[in-house]
Parts: sequence; C-alpha cells; structure tokens
Amino acid sequence: KATKEAYFADIQALLKEKNAVLVAHYYTDALVQEIAEKSGGFIGDSLEMARFGANTDADLIVVAGVRFMGETAKILAPNKTVVMPTLEATCSLDLGCPVDEFTKFCEQHPDREVVVYANTSAEVKAVADWVVTSSIAVDLIDHLDAQGKKIIWGPDKHLGGYVQKQTGADMLLWDASCIVHEEFKAKGILDMKAMYPDAAILVHPESPDSVVQIADVVGSTTQLIKASQSLPNQQFIVATDRGIFYKMQQLSPQKSFIEAPTGGAGSSCKSCAHCPWMAMNTLENLKQALIDPTDIVEVDIEIANKAMIPLNRMLEFAK
Ligand code: 13P
Ligand code: SF4
Repeated sequence: KATKEAYFADIQALLKEKNAVLVAHYYTDALVQEIAEKSGGFIGDSLEMARFGANTDADLIVVAGVRFMGETAKILAPNKTVVMPTLEATCSLDLGCPVDEFTKFCEQHPDREVVVYANTSAEVKAVADWVVTSSIAVDLIDHLDAQGKKIIWGPDKHLGGYVQKQTGADMLLWDASCIVHEEFKAKGILDMKAMYPDAAILVHPESPDSVVQIADVVGSTTQLIKASQSLPNQQFIVATDRGIFYKMQQLSPQKSFIEAPTGGAGSSCKSCAHCPWMAMNTLENLKQALIDPTDIVEVDIEIANKAMIPLNRMLEFAK
C-alpha cells in the first residue's frame, strides 16, 4: 500500500502536469486538506470555495467536497474542466430538496423572493433569486427584509430558523436538514461544558435551535475557525464536522478542541460529527481523478446559465 508521502508526491506532480488546482472543504479528511495546502491549492468554506473556483487560472479544478460544490465551480467557470474524487458525494440538504417539489412550493407563493442555500442542486439554484452560504445568510436576509421582501427559504430548516430569529424577516421554510449537525444535543454539550467550564462553545448554524442557543459563537466553518483563533479560551467544544479540527489545531496548536457530543449513550447516529459524503474523498480517489478522471462535473448549459445568476448575485453581495 502506498504511503502518504508517495500519494502526496504523485498528486502534486499530476496537479502540476495538468495545470490543475485542488480545492477542498474543511470537512474533508485531514490528509486531503493537507495535500490541498501543500500543493498550493485552497481550503475554505462554501463561499470561499465558490469564489476561488470562479477566479482561478488553472485549466482543471479538482473539488474535494460534495457534489453541490463541484457544480458551483462548474457553473462559475463553465470553460474549465471540473472533476471530483467521486460524484457520489452528495448532501442530505441537496437530497431533501427535489427540484419539482421545491418549484411547486415556490409557485404557490409567487410574491416571495426565493433564497436557497448553496447546499442544493444546480436545478434548484436555477429556480432561485438568490443563493447564500451560512457566512452571509443573516446579512442577505436582513438586506432583503429591509426592502420589505418576503422570503421562501430552502432547504435547511435549522439555518432558516436561525436566520429568521436573527432578522425577524417573514420567511417560509422548506423542511430539510443536515444529518451531521442535526445530531448535536444541547444537553450533552452542557454536560461537557460542566466538565470544561472555561471552554467556548462553537456551533455551525445547521445545528438545531437548542444547540445554537447555548453557543458562544455561531458561524460558517471559516467564521468558527477565526473565532477559535481570536477568543482567549484555551478549550473549545465544537458542534460541527470534526474535519474542521485540522485547521483549528494547526492555527492554535496550544489550544484543545473537543468534539460536541451527539445522540448520547445508545444513540443510533450513523454520522456522528463526520459527514459520510465528505469522507468519500480519499487520497486514492483524488489521485485517480487526476490520472483518469471519470467523475467529471457536467451541468446542463440552460440550467447553468440560470443558476449562474443567483450565484453571481451572492458573490457580488458578499464582496
Ligand atoms: P460552510 O463551509 O459554508 O460553513 O458550509 C458548511 C457545510 O455544511 C458544507 O457542506
Ligand atoms: Fe451536507 Fe451536512 Fe454533509 Fe455539509 S455536513 S455536506 S450540510 S450532509
């Protein structure tokens, strides 16, 4: 079996040979993030990955993450080839928002602005007025609310509920959730806080309301990483995918990061603090994607042209 060093050397050489760049999400495994960094690629949250994909000079973009991230890169860089280690890496939010049903829902409320989370298919983005990521959701809804706009929000009910509470906007929420964040439990986190009283609680807003309520900081992956650097606390209880510990620990080696508890004793949780789809990205299939790409991201041109509009609005708003 090839060693990590051998994989790293091969992947770096292949990226160079193909004028390719590797873009990884913070939830991918540590080795995937490490090679993205070492090869001059990029690690980021969903918004930063989209921005990076739109601006890169590379001919080939390799997206280590989940499918909506690959699709977003392709839509924003239609003339580039976008490949993924596996196109099977999906997301429960994307799966929970089929385009036909969501379109019907939107048609029932034609007076509302349609805002969708980045964690959706290209088809769903194509029926939206806006795309957002967790890092700008509150700001964008505030902006629309100030203009008197009423909102349809899809698909994440937890993030939508959080944004609604923060802004007071009139929002109708689609009913889907992230199978990873949904498992965090406020009681377990508070029990842990009793053991580590000085720890700060960092929470991603895809978590349930009861968990968000006990957070010291709520934010996107990048915002949580920044908080782990800037807060004076030496310990952190982190309610998001454990992939994020790679960057947190690297930036603050003296601090300790503790995984927030999920279901508790006897829990049936199958994806405790780690997304099963993000975990599908490995050094093996990453290397294979560069040697002989089979998992090439394709988006129908008409869909892509429509989805590009709310995506570009998002990038423009986030400037
Ligand atoms: P962000 O990186 O934008 O916080 O998104 C989290 C996520 O769940 C991506 O799948
Ligand atoms: Fe989707 Fe949740 Fe996995 Fe992110 S962590 S890709 S929201 S299932």
